[in-house]
Amino acid sequence: MKLLLTGASGLLGINLALETMREHEVIGVDRGRLKSAPFQVINADILKTDEINSIIDNTKPDWFINCAALANLEKCEEDPIQAKILNTDLPGELAVACAKRNIPFIHLSTDSVFDGTKEGMYTEEDEPNPQGVYSRTKLDGERAVQQVNQQAIIARVNFFGWSLGAKRSLPEFFVNNLSDGKPVNGFTDVIFCPMWVNHLAQTLIAMLEKDLHGLYHVVGAQPMNKYQFGLEVARKFGLDESLIMPQSVEQSGLTAKRSHNLWLSVHKLSTDLGRPLPDFSTGLDGFYTQFQQGYPQKIRSYQHFDA
Ligand SMILES: NC(=O)c1ccc[n+]([C@@H]2O[C@H](COP(=O)([O-])OP(=O)(O)OC[C@H]3O[C@@H](n4cnc5c(N)ncnc54)[C@H](OP(=O)(O)O)[C@@H]3O)[C@@H](O)[C@H]2O)c1
Repeated sequence: MKLLLTGASGLLGINLALETMREHEVIGVDRGRLKSAPFQVINADILKTDEINSIIDNTKPDWFINCAALANLEKCEEDPIQAKILNTDLPGELAVACAKRNIPFIHLSTDSVFDGTKEGMYTEEDEPNPQGVYSRTKLDGERAVQQVNQQAIIARVNFFGWSLGAKRSLPEFFVNNLSDGKPVNGFTDVIFCPMWVNHLAQTLIAMLEKDLHGLYHVVGAQPMNKYQFGLEVARKFGLDESLIMPQSVEQSGLTAKRSHNLWLSVHKLSTDLGRPLPDFSTGLDGFYTQFQQGYPQKIRSYQHFDA
């Protein structure tokens, strides 16, 4: 099958492309950050509707996954207009383009559409209540997609992996700082369900192969707080876990508000896929194996300059 994806330089985009190209043809759309990637890359401005339409018509993909976004919460607070363009308007336009051509489409959304005040797990039936510009524009993006393309998959995700700039993902933060002997804070009051990005990539492709539609929680099956996550990473990498200080996110000084409980149920997805989702420890093992094999350096060599 032929997969076309936007945001090919992002944390999800690059790893999705590399994972999927083992079995499928991959074409990534990029705005100039990638060089010499081992899959086909098209340079284009995805905010120009004509450009994206002609890429779709020229490449004729079987599947389309939109990985482009303004995904930095603080940047979204600083520039809500750009956040709306990337996170709301663009997904709606891509969903229309795919609906017109009958191309299965996945839009990535976020666990943080919820306010985090519920006790226990959130299901797809729970009412979102976004707390900041990022989450609000992402929820509006879900609605923009749903309105024009009922066949689309909307995947609320949370994932970790190695990134082009080596800074995008939470375990990179822990590994980078602990390797330098620097103390860091780990939030004890933010619960989330991290999934290894390669597992996410495999799961998204499985969802397309199963012809699923609609809204799904696509996160790890194991909830933990960010402090615990840091400890897990430190132990796996043989780093000094005593450098991780437990802290409340309320004391962090971050401008964008964080939800405290982002424990999402994956029951709907595992039922529809007919199998359990990969577990966290297998994902962390995979992430560590990539490190041992020089994967972080390999993907960094695909970008024009160090970000
Ligand atoms: N990371 C997570 O755990 C997480 C959690 C919840 C939801 N998500 C969602 O998952 C998806 C992928 O996230 P990610 O972490 O991979 O994000 P990311 O690493 O920030 O990547 C974002 C991608 O969008 C591209 N992009 C940004 N602005 C653009 C513009 N104006 N024109 C063209 N491309 C632009 C970036 O290109 P450049 O490299 O050129 O800037 C990059 O390729 C997003 O929808 C995000 O909201 C992620």
